[in-house]
Amino acid sequence: MAMALSRIRIPSLPALAAYAADLAAALRPGDVVTLSGPLGVGKTALVKALARSLGITDEVISPTFVYQQTYRLPTDSSIRALTHLDLYRLTSDADVTALGLVTEDPTGVVVIEWPERAPTLASRATLQLTWTFAPDGSRDLTSEWRRP
Ligand SMILES: Nc1ncnc2c1ncn2[C@@H]1O[C@H](COP(=O)(O)OP(=O)(O)OP(=O)(O)O)[C@@H](O)[C@H]1O
Ligand SMILES: [Mg+2]
Repeated sequence: MAMALSRIRIPSLPALAAYAADLAAALRPGDVVTLSGPLGVGKTALVKALARSLGITDEVISPTFVYQQTYRLPTDSSIRALTHLDLYRLTSDADVTALGLVTEDPTGVVVIEWPERAPTLASRATLQLTWTFAPDGSRDLTSEWRRP
């Protein structure tokens, strides 16, 4: 398994947008990205920025109450869709199954907030992003690629 660990500081929303642009260029169909970190650290903000970088023009909403949203990409993209899950209100992998959520998409990318709620699902991530608050209020982001 190829692994690469890196850590960067993201001090602002423009810096987040720049990071999202780099991430968009690195993602491939079939990738599953987990977003871990405390309330308000910027997980949804990253998904919004990533959607912009992938060419999605629909408004990205936080799926905390609907669990899942899927956005189509422009037809010239090699990635067909971005699926955004937020498992905050779930308690287990069984909940994910019961709700019939999309947990992988060979033609698209799946991003998952609160992956800790569903450990089996989380274990299949190809990229794990883990956020912490820095003392000055900016964000530190650790990323670990786990592509097979
Ligand atoms: N790097 C950053 N610098 C400054 N502000 C940021 C940064 N990232 C996110 N924010 C701001 O922090 C707030 C909370 O972000 P967001 O909703 O993305 O958090 P979240 O991690 O998704 O939280 P939750 O766990 O509740 O879903 C937003 O107002 C967002 O604009
Ligand atoms: Mg969120």
